[in-house]
Amino acid sequence: MVDTPQVVIEAVNLTKDRLSSFLKKRTRVLDGLNLQVFAGQTYGLIGPNGAGKTTTVKLLLGLLRPDEGQAKVLGAASSERANLAQIGFLPENPYFYSHLTGREFLTFVGKLFSLPDDLIKSRVKNLVEKVSLVDACDKPTGKYSKGMLQRLGIAQALINDPQILFLDEPMSGLDPLGRMDVRRILHELKSEGKTIFFNSHLLPDVGELCDRVGLLVNGKMVADSPVSDITEGGNFKDLEDFFLEHVQAAMLNKQDSKSQSELS
Ligand SMILES: Nc1ncnc2c1ncn2[C@@H]1O[C@H](COP(=O)(O)OP(=O)(O)O)[C@@H](O)[C@H]1O
Ligand SMILES: [Mg+2]
Repeated sequence: MVDTPQVVIEAVNLTKDRLSSFLKKRTRVLDGLNLQVFAGQTYGLIGPNGAGKTTTVKLLLGLLRPDEGQAKVLGAASSERANLAQIGFLPENPYFYSHLTGREFLTFVGKLFSLPDDLIKSRVKNLVEKVSLVDACDKPTGKYSKGMLQRLGIAQALINDPQILFLDEPMSGLDPLGRMDVRRILHELKSEGKTIFFNSHLLPDVGELCDRVGLLVNGKMVADSPVSDITEGGNFKDLEDFFLEHVQAAMLNKQDSKSQSELS
């Protein structure tokens, strides 16, 4: 019997409105998003700044409530927060207490999950090795470089040994060496069978790591497809070509419908 792959992350008609800073006008920042991620997949959500990527992650995590539609992780509505123990999250702008050492910070996060002390100790030991912070883990995080902080951020997302990882822009702001370190860690996590959902606009990294990619423009999913179909399908030179073509088409579409509504 062939096992059918399990859908572990799902968005159905996911929609979110926000009040714009200008005149507090209600604006639709995510519009009817549908997506499915299967167990063990690495899914990359790409799109220009302001497209709605972070909003999507927050909805999938239950940190925001949708105005319409549903977000589900491991079959339960994200708003129920039922599966938080199975989820790891690296936010776009993580905050670290600068006076704590890396080891103390990871221990603190382990305690938030109510893990037993000896388990926290052994997980922290393994995680600082995994993210190459063995030498730095007893120094205060205030002295860490951006790359070290990002690796510590990934380690904290793994303290509960989650099945599913949400990483919001894990490589942004890193130099090429820092990016390479994070790519190596993500490759390892992928080979361990973790499901990874990450947002990025660093397309070469997305192309290298992801099985599937979704492209969000102005809150709408304009394409959702296996990476191999894009890069080997013959229609696009690479992921950047795919991105530019779709984003430019979506922008032209938006201009057209604006002119139409001004004329009518
Ligand atoms: N807290 C907020 N209040 C109002 N608007 C917001 C808020 N957060 C994000 N937005 C708006 O929602 C849209 C999508 O933002 P975001 O999801 O952060 O995009 P991305 O992560 O793709 O750059 C943007 O237009 C942004 O200005
Ligand atoms: Mg973002």
